[in-house]
Amino acid sequence: MSGSHFGKLFSVTTFGESHGPSLGAIVDGCPPGLPLEAADLQQDLDRRRPGQSRHTSQRHEADRVEILSGVYEGVTTGTPIGLVIANTDARPGDYRELAQILRPGHGDYPYLMKYGHRDYRGGGRASARETAMRVAAGAIARKYLALEFGIGIVGWLDGIGSLRFAGRPPRVRPDNDFFAPEEEWLAPIAELIESLRREGDSVGARVGVVAYGVPVGWGDPVFDKLDATLAHALMSIGAVKGVEIGDGFKAAFQRGSEHRDAITPDGFRTNHAGGILAGISTGQAICAYLAFKPTSSIRLPIASVGTDGQPREVLVKGRHDPCVGIRGVPVAEAMVALTLMDHALRQRGQNGAVTPPMRPVPGSIGPDEE
Ligand SMILES: Cc1cc2nc3c(=O)[nH]c(=O)nc-3n(C[C@H](O)[C@H](O)[C@H](O)COP(=O)(O)O)c2cc1C
Repeated sequence: MSGSHFGKLFSVTTFGESHGPSLGAIVDGCPPGLPLEAADLQQDLDRRRPGQSRHTSQRHEADRVEILSGVYEGVTTGTPIGLVIANTDARPGDYRELAQILRPGHGDYPYLMKYGHRDYRGGGRASARETAMRVAAGAIARKYLALEFGIGIVGWLDGIGSLRFAGRPPRVRPDNDFFAPEEEWLAPIAELIESLRREGDSVGARVGVVAYGVPVGWGDPVFDKLDATLAHALMSIGAVKGVEIGDGFKAAFQRGSEHRDAITPDGFRTNHAGGILAGISTGQAICAYLAFKPTSSIRLPIASVGTDGQPREVLVKGRHDPCVGIRGVPVAEAMVALTLMDHALRQRGQNGAVTPPMRPVPGSIGPDEE
């Protein structure tokens, strides 16, 4: 199968392009009996959608999701859940002049060479419009995980420009334009975004996602270790160039005495591992971090070639986020939810009847907690 499908027991298949008539998803494997309505999905979609604030892309999409199947009398039936969102603010005309140009930093060149024919309008399938369906599907997973296990998934902007969050992962989802964990960040970020807009430039971002309340035991060694599927899920988001679990790349410069997390009858003392050992959840908070690259579509010119192979200068007008990492926060949360949901069902399927020979040790919270 080609690459539009994610998950084994709880699976999502997405379809649709940026400037086509609609986007859609089929979510299969959802257990029956989950109370579900479009409003559950809409909350998360509203966090992701463009045009929410003057700091992100000015494309005005309502992102109204419709549930076509799999829900009857307000609860899931266990059959495939069909989801659709109409594209209401597609303006293919904005992109016509790019038909013969290959934008650096985008999928234009590799898509053309791989498929031979491409939908160039707004990046077609490579466009981040597609992530709306991940967020819609992720909201179903999030609801099940919350009701069944009490799991909470919180994403936040962990770093942008010179700002770098040094505190514990937040307990609740930051509810501001930037998903910033600290109120003091709001003014400097707004200032940074405005100055980038003036300069026609963009900036990268670090995003954090933590999952609280995941029981010990999820993850399927060896190829489907929980950290491996999380990395797969998070790396599949456009513009993500790096994923770390727990201390991540810091571990390369640590000593064993520093990195290991001591276990006591009262719980783990630290969480450098990010809540996963040997590909299996430990019961500690699962902590993942993503590096988003700076937006490629900017007004500053850059050398490229046309589809005729001749040199061209490219500068991109249109409606773009100076920092795609900000809108990447709800997408990252959704991918963590989809990953955990799949592993939850896999755990139940294979090991539901296992009685562990000891009581679980309590988990601890943040990645750096001492
Ligand atoms: C939520 C979100 C919004 C995005 N918006 C834009 C955008 O407005 N302009 C842009 O150039 N890239 C945007 N991107 C990134 C591109 O989709 C991505 O860089 C491109 O498809 C190439 O893929 P790659 O960066 O993974 O190699 C966005 C990504 C996400 C996750």
